Amino acid sequence: MKRTLESLESQPLEGERALVRVDFNVPIKDGKVTNAKRIVGALPTIEWLRQKGCRVVLMSHLGRPKGKRVAEFSLEQVIGELERQLGIPVQFIADPLAAEAESLTRKMKRGEVALLENTRFYAGESQNEPELAKGFAKLGDFYVNDAFGSAHRAHASTEAVAHLLQPAVAGFLMERELQYLQSTLAEPERPFVAILGGAKISGKIDAIEALLPKVDEILIGGAMACTFFLAMGFEVGTSLVEREKVDLASRVLDAGGDKIILPVGAIVAQTLDSDAELRSVARDSIPAGWAMYDIDQDSREDFIRRIRRAKTVVWNGPMGVFETPPFDAGTVAVARGLAAATGDGATTIVGGGDSAAAVAAAGLESKMSHVSTGGGAALELLEGKALPGVEALDES
Ligand code: 3PG
Repeated sequence: MKRTLESLESQPLEGERALVRVDFNVPIKDGKVTNAKRIVGALPTIEWLRQKGCRVVLMSHLGRPKGKRVAEFSLEQVIGELERQLGIPVQFIADPLAAEAESLTRKMKRGEVALLENTRFYAGESQNEPELAKGFAKLGDFYVNDAFGSAHRAHASTEAVAHLLQPAVAGFLMERELQYLQSTLAEPERPFVAILGGAKISGKIDAIEALLPKVDEILIGGAMACTFFLAMGFEVGTSLVEREKVDLASRVLDAGGDKIILPVGAIVAQTLDSDAELRSVARDSIPAGWAMYDIDQDSREDFIRRIRRAKTVVWNGPMGVFETPPFDAGTVAVARGLAAATGDGATTIVGGGDSAAAVAAAGLESKMSHVSTGGGAALELLEGKALPGVEALDES
């Protein structure tokens, strides 16, 4: 277990500068934040620190500017939304490595908040460079990592800096994410069902292999199912497949046995155009020239029945091309199944990325036990990997 913010409850923090790594890698359009979930997720940590009388210095990356100052990726664009959420002005520190940056943080009053410019404007960030971490460390007296979405990156602002400031603790969002995606899944209430989807088996194979010994069932949807269909000897038309992974899919089917549940049928079309003709076919009858774009109604019902029998459910990856209705129907059906399972008392956990986006689009976020703010980080936890941004924090 890692040390958390709460463990600092009885420490005198008043006047201390808290250097907080957040994940404000948020979608931005025309200079405005279009989804504030990650900002909202960091508010409990920021508010707690403010109430303790800390001066709160936030840092994050945005996009992948590859060590260059790129206006499109400036975190200044996030200031307006952050001020709106916090209800106070937020100072922007455009050059965190400039000599005056440190004095700016020392001049902040108790309870004030500042945001540093994009950590990835420095090449040393993604190289986990100690010199850059030293520059960041000058801006705080202790360190809080609340950036779950970036915890799988060993970067200067997530890893190296944690060794330079004491204490170095997990923020509330980080703690909640680890509680669901690590602790709950380590000792799940059974039956434990995992649902994996998405286009490629290669992106999920590590998760499948890590989950197989732990779960009662893995439900597999998305185009990834077609690589399994090929391994079972079925034709898949023009569906997206990874032919070089067919042997791997065979081995997974052998190892998984009854635990691996594939769709029984597919919604197929010749194109993704909105006026394209759709057909619902059995999985062994995908016609030549047609591609699977969603799971069929029977599969949806089968998946939902299994989800509703479960006491713990974890979901990562859509069931079809959910960005293009009507091929979102299978994904939405699974989201509704999870929402119903939560109502029945199950713990339902949605990995970030596309499945989180699908749950949000269906308006079902509040009906899940937990929707992760991290895509890659959530998947790496499901793969059983350690996250460098977490490992670097103090032990409790
Ligand atoms: C994410 O959006 O998944 C995180 O912010 C990490 O971003 P990255 O994949 O560019 O490291």
